[in-house]
Amino acid sequence: MKTLFILFVLMNLDQLLKTGRCTETQDQIISITPKTQEQVDILKNVSTQYETALWQPVSPQYIKEETEVHLFVPANSSETVKDLLQKHAITHGVLLANTNELIEMQTRNDSTDPRSSSTFYERYHSLEDIYHWINRTQQDNPNMVKAILIGSSYEKRPLYVLKLSVNNRPNKKAMWIDCGIHAREWISHAFCLWFVQNSLSFYKLNQDITRILDNMDVYILPVMNPDGYQYTWTTNRMWRKNRSVSKSSNCIGVDLNRNFDANWCTEGASDEPCTEIYCGAFPESEPESQAVANFLRSHKDSVQFYLSIHSYSQMLLFPYSCTLDEAENHKDLLEMAQEAAQAIRRYYRNTYKYGSGAKTIYLAPGGSDDWAYNLGIKYSFTFELQDRGRYGFLLPPSLISRACNEALIAVKTIALKVIEKT
Ligand code: ARG
Ligand code: ZN
Repeated sequence: MKTLFILFVLMNLDQLLKTGRCTETQDQIISITPKTQEQVDILKNVSTQYETALWQPVSPQYIKEETEVHLFVPANSSETVKDLLQKHAITHGVLLANTNELIEMQTRNDSTDPRSSSTFYERYHSLEDIYHWINRTQQDNPNMVKAILIGSSYEKRPLYVLKLSVNNRPNKKAMWIDCGIHAREWISHAFCLWFVQNSLSFYKLNQDITRILDNMDVYILPVMNPDGYQYTWTTNRMWRKNRSVSKSSNCIGVDLNRNFDANWCTEGASDEPCTEIYCGAFPESEPESQAVANFLRSHKDSVQFYLSIHSYSQMLLFPYSCTLDEAENHKDLLEMAQEAAQAIRRYYRNTYKYGSGAKTIYLAPGGSDDWAYNLGIKYSFTFELQDRGRYGFLLPPSLISRACNEALIAVKTIALKVIEKT
């Protein structure tokens, strides 16, 4: 009896110690608003020299006074980073203290859950699962869905586009959606799956979806950066770029959304392979961007609406991002984005900013949206989905449906406008 009791105490002690240790040593997301130029410089230093990942802004060069910085700090650099901040009297808040738990929640395999098939679209899926899903979706809907191989990634993974098409009208218009240019933006991949599922389930039931599919073919690339996505599941949840090896550096990866031929590698991109916004060796140097560009070039007569899905920050953006100049149909684009944002506000009471990329966030050349626009796809958008920083890239699965429905209503609003105008 006595030994049992001692054992019991020991077991609980161990439990206590474990949980204590866990909360103390988890990876965290911290938030800092620098007040002086000195603090700005220190932050730039921290985010480049220590083993951290900048969540916001995308690159240290954009850190400035009075704007909030979100920084991922892994447990093992936590003390060093916090000491350094303290030494310079920089205060920080903790946005997320339980990063490890959130990541665990996002990658949990729920396939043993009896309800799992009904919640499939409300969970995140590994790359392998998504490839299976592509296959199954095509097999289950032979009259509406066709998978098209458009190329392969740097590590030779296939790039599949799903074509949704309900009829063969002559001169049929089309729209394009790509997801997951940036590996860590998991809600983006989830949206592409959501969109396909919704279209297939509600064709002939929902008036808007029916009108859209009757008038347009839809091309969907659910995973534009499969190597990066795989890497976020196995090795580093915060990875953004693709996984290509550079000739000139040990650093890996090109920012695919800086690799297109639109004022390529000017201000807002970097020719330094170690940065998160590395533009690559030349425009379309990467197989992933080249595959997308080739496909769009060969379909540019039909594709009227280009859409690229990212996260986070809740924005509906349109060209240009590579220059401060206004697009030729700026007024149209603004009106469409505004209407989409209003729909989101009306139906979901959530706020999305909208405007041209360069004026709404920052100059960012070499983006797919600007390139597609210059190719002649006059309705070109980039959506930044939920949230605004509460969970950032670690949006919990329970928020997938809200985030996707919001984006869906925005897509529908714009697609219907495109049909009207073209
Ligand atoms: N957050 C996205 C990025 O940095 C914004 C994309 C807007 N469009 C663009 N062409 N930069 O890539
Ligand atoms: Zn992105």
